[in-house]
Amino acid sequence: MQLFKLKTTVSRFDTFAEFACTFDLGANDLVLTHDFLYKSFIERLGLKCLFVMLEKYGQGEPSDEMINRIIADVANSKYDRVVAIGGGTVIDVSKLLAINFVTNVADAFERKVPIVKEKRLITVPTTCGTGSEMTNITIAELKSKNTKMGLADDALLPDDAVLIPELLMGLPFKFFAFSAIDALIHATESYVSPKSNPYTQMYCREAISIIVDVFSNIAAKGADYYKERLEDMLIASNYAGIAFGNTGVGAVHALSYPLGGVYHVPHGEANYQFFTKVFKLYSEKKPCGIIREVNSLYAKLLNTSEDMVYIKLDELLGHMISKNSLRFYGMQQSDIDSFTGSVLLGQQRLLNNNYAPFSEDDIRGIYTELF
Ligand SMILES: [Fe+2]
Repeated sequence: MQLFKLKTTVSRFDTFAEFACTFDLGANDLVLTHDFLYKSFIERLGLKCLFVMLEKYGQGEPSDEMINRIIADVANSKYDRVVAIGGGTVIDVSKLLAINFVTNVADAFERKVPIVKEKRLITVPTTCGTGSEMTNITIAELKSKNTKMGLADDALLPDDAVLIPELLMGLPFKFFAFSAIDALIHATESYVSPKSNPYTQMYCREAISIIVDVFSNIAAKGADYYKERLEDMLIASNYAGIAFGNTGVGAVHALSYPLGGVYHVPHGEANYQFFTKVFKLYSEKKPCGIIREVNSLYAKLLNTSEDMVYIKLDELLGHMISKNSLRFYGMQQSDIDSFTGSVLLGQQRLLNNNYAPFSEDDIRGIYTELF
């Protein structure tokens, strides 16, 4: 069994200008980014790249319709490299611009067309959560299926991941909090994945340790503390990306996708709602496996006993940002059954990666308890 691979080169620069100079950004580059990042860091450099601003195509996380419109707009442009500067949305979309063109991207997600890498892909994360700069996975909402779907293929792997702490300086606390919780979930789900091994666990442990330390300090010193640790969090998120890029994630992501797809709850926020509930059920269903290592690590970091880990973790995450009932997001009682069906039908890629198998009743039970 393959244990570990890392094909993406990781670089770090103090400033965006240093990155642009070293990577010689120019006319043969398509740069996908956000308007506010362009105005704050890029515009003044006068680069000749083809710039595509995500806002032009809609707000929020990517849908197949949105991606199809971007693909149609750039189809006749000439470029050798795709440069993604942004959060998970920008990076996930950029992965689909670096492969062979398809007119309907849902065909790629449903594997109706071959996926072939055609452009070099450079990713520059500007949040500290997705780890997408290190993975071969892209996620989009498929409007026709009313849920989010993931596509995992090595043709989507970035060639370069570039860490530039300067780009995170203006990250609002709320975006920091949800993306950082997502990174914590990546590291924790990766740790208990069936593909977890000593190589990936090393990255998970380090990511969890850094993130819990930052969160604990925020709880003790106040929200502004996050600004002192942005680079650490960028690295922790990258570590978590390396780990789950090798092992995949599981039920937390699987159960959150219908909530994200139907009620447009952002990815990190949706995952947060399910995190500790899924891990409590894992601990009940299969208490003697590798989850003991995870619970022991959290117990040490949270200065508590293993049986109190998820209560203390909920308290700590609650200091960052409050958790809500699912009905807060608009979910209806009738969605409990339809979400359960949607997860069983559409998220087998993730459910197969669960630490312990979840039955239909388990999934329905989690939605019911969190409703
Ligand atoms: Fe995630």
